[in-house]
Formats: sequence, C-alpha cells, structure tokens
Amino acid sequence: MRMYDIIKKKRDGGELSAEEIGYFIGGVTDGSIPDYQISALCMAIYFRGMTVRETCDLTFAVRDSGDKLDFSAIGGIRADKHSTGGVGDKTSLVVGPIVASLGVKVAKMSGRGLGHTGGTVDKLESIRGFQTTLAEEDFIRQVNEIGIAIVGQSREFAPADKKLYALRDVTATVDSMPLIAASIMGKKLAADDDCIVLDVKTGSGSFMKTAEKSRALARLMVDIGKRAGKKMVALITDMDVPLGYAIGNSLEVIEAVETLKGRGPEDFTEVCLTLAAYMLSLAGMGTPNEAKALARRAIDDGSALKKLKEMVAAQGGDPACIDDTNRFDKAKYAYAVTSARSGYIVRVDTEAYGLASLALGAGRNRAEDTIDHSAGILLKKKTGDYVEKGALLATLYANDGEKFAEAERILLGATSFGDTMPAKTPLICDIVE
Ligand code: URA
Repeated sequence: MRMYDIIKKKRDGGELSAEEIGYFIGGVTDGSIPDYQISALCMAIYFRGMTVRETCDLTFAVRDSGDKLDFSAIGGIRADKHSTGGVGDKTSLVVGPIVASLGVKVAKMSGRGLGHTGGTVDKLESIRGFQTTLAEEDFIRQVNEIGIAIVGQSREFAPADKKLYALRDVTATVDSMPLIAASIMGKKLAADDDCIVLDVKTGSGSFMKTAEKSRALARLMVDIGKRAGKKMVALITDMDVPLGYAIGNSLEVIEAVETLKGRGPEDFTEVCLTLAAYMLSLAGMGTPNEAKALARRAIDDGSALKKLKEMVAAQGGDPACIDDTNRFDKAKYAYAVTSARSGYIVRVDTEAYGLASLALGAGRNRAEDTIDHSAGILLKKKTGDYVEKGALLATLYANDGEKFAEAERILLGATSFGDTMPAKTPLICDIVE
C-alpha cells in the first residue's frame, strides 16, 4: 500500500477502505508517514468528506492507536463531557466539580487550545503548581478518593490524534466534520466512561458555523458512541457570542471560580447547569430537569466549589487561588478598547475574538509556541448590549504592550453595530439523544 495512492483516491472523491484508513493511522502513529502526506490527506478529507462508514473506521483506528484506559478500578458511574471547541468555553472547570460533588465520577482527559479556541489543560496550568500529567494509578486513585481528576492526554493515549490535532491546527484542516468526529470520539472511546455528553458548538466562534452542520456533527458523534455501547447525548449550544465575558486562560479560570461561587455570567452559568444536568441524568440521577435542580444546589451550597478546591490541591495547585482569585498571576499591561460610535452591538465574529486573544499571547500560532497564561480579554459588552460612543467595550491584557494594537484592530473589526436591538438567540439550540 502507498500513501500516495490513498491521498489520490480521496482527492478524487473515492471511499477509503478500512485497510487504507488503518494503514494511514498506523503510519501516523509510528512516524513512518511524513507530515506533508498526512497534511495532504487531511486536506483531501476536508474537501471530499467521508462516509459514515469511513468516519467510524477512522474513529476506531484513532481509538486503537495507543493504550486504552481501564477505569474498572474506579467505583461508581463515570461521566464525561467534551466540547467541540469555542471561545470563552471554560465549562469543564465548572461542570466537572458540580457533577463530582454529586457523586458521579469525573475521570477527564482534556486538550490544549486548538486554532482560535482555548483548551482546558492550558487553562488549568494557569493555576500555580497545577499538574496536568498524572500516572494512571495516581489518576485513578484521585478519582476514587475525591471523585474528579482532569489531566492532559498522555503520550500513549490516542497518539494518532495528538499528531493529527497538531498538524490540522497549522494546516487549516480543523473544521472538517469527519476529522472532528474521529478526533473527539477516538479519544472518548479510548477512555472508559459510561456516559458522554457532547457540547457541540454552533455559530461564528465554532468550527461548525451553521446549525445544520452542527446538528449533523452531533448526530454523527452520538451514532459512533452508541455503536460503541456508550450512553450519549449531544447538546448544540450557541457560540455566535463568546461564552461569559472572559477569554484567555487565567481570566477564564477566575470566571469559572466566580461561577462556582454563584456570581457567574448568566449565559455561562446556564450552559454549565444544562451540561451538568445531562451528565447527571445519563448517570441515573433523575430527569434532566431534576438533575439541573441538583446541579444548581451544588453551586448554591458551595459543594461544587469545595470539589474544585479539592481537585486543585490534589493536583499540586494552590487552593488559596480559588478562595482569592487576586492570587493569580496578572498581566503587566492592560488596555481599554472603546467604542467609536453609539448603538447596539448586533453581531460579533466570535472566531475573530478568539484570534484577538491569541494575538495577545493567550494561544499558539505554532504547536511549539508557549502561551502567556495571564493574557486575554475581559469583555464589557456583548451582542445585544447598547453602547455609548467612547464607552468601554473590552479590556485587553498582555505582558507585551506591543500586542495591543493588533488585538484591538481585530476586535473592533469583528464587532458590528446597528440602531436596533438584535433578536436573542437561544443558548441551547438543540438536543440530540
Ligand atoms: N476537539 C477535539 O478534541 N478535536 C477536534 O478536532 C476539535 C475539537
């Protein structure tokens, strides 16, 4: 078999066999296929797509590319969630502790930022001392002892996805339905959870820009998960507007902590409670509505916040940061972006907001880049808000003041004004069960 022929077949619209997909993923994993051929096939898949059968074969090949996790030593029901990626999407930091505080186990492997979107592992690393790498036995012990652990993927876990993820990020091939489905579900199936809630983002800040595409991605992933015997639900949630007001690693962790203290933004709190409700409900804790009431109580009585603190302490982080978020490292410089006109914000290009945060140093342009955990954006106004000329739209944070001009240019270019208030879009757009 030759990689050249596989690329040509997909380029010309052919359907790859399970053997060809297996050959490709095998070569990605053992390093025998060079990056340029991997990237070329990703681009061919981007343009030509894949059938459901091809996508399932790709997913199972990703799942089987490395070690599988065995969570049988974890007592109780295990639930996980995974987002397709968004801007200001720090839901795992709130949802995980809520669910764990109610007795359902959260043994979570999270990713780093991809493209314009942030990643949970990068966010957690903004907590001083927090370790996102744990040996498997320590990971399992922690989940058994306190109910939750969130770590990055180990080198041996779905290694094909690691390689593909990094190459897709720099070759404009992230936003492909079969590649996203195989990436997410390959990892989810290599882990050993009973229940999986997918948060499929839709809108300008997501990889799937339209509701139809998001719904199709949700159905595809739910179908793959069910074929593998998992309890699955996908929520399609709005990403036409950044979630909450904070974009950037430590800023987002602070917003998540505020949310667990009951002072979070309304939109972010609602999405977190809904995701938690579906995780709890799949795990047998009542209807989604009943489970949502439990989730709300876990915020109100402080038990979810306590669970986050326990996790931070167990993973070497400084739990005092959670009590007092002023202890997070601060960016050296702040810069106010103001409005050049009065009017309603009628639309924002949320992907561009993510790129503005990247321009401040909060994300990576290349896989090997280091990130600035304290850089980012605190929005003051969002879609639907009225602003007076000269009013504050957002505050930018960076450790390099030279970065503000570019971020401001992107942010202002991505914000559209009008004279009438735009219609409200729903936060939870659909549920695929
Ligand atoms: N999240 C993933 O894990 N993979 C993707 O391809 C996109 C989002």
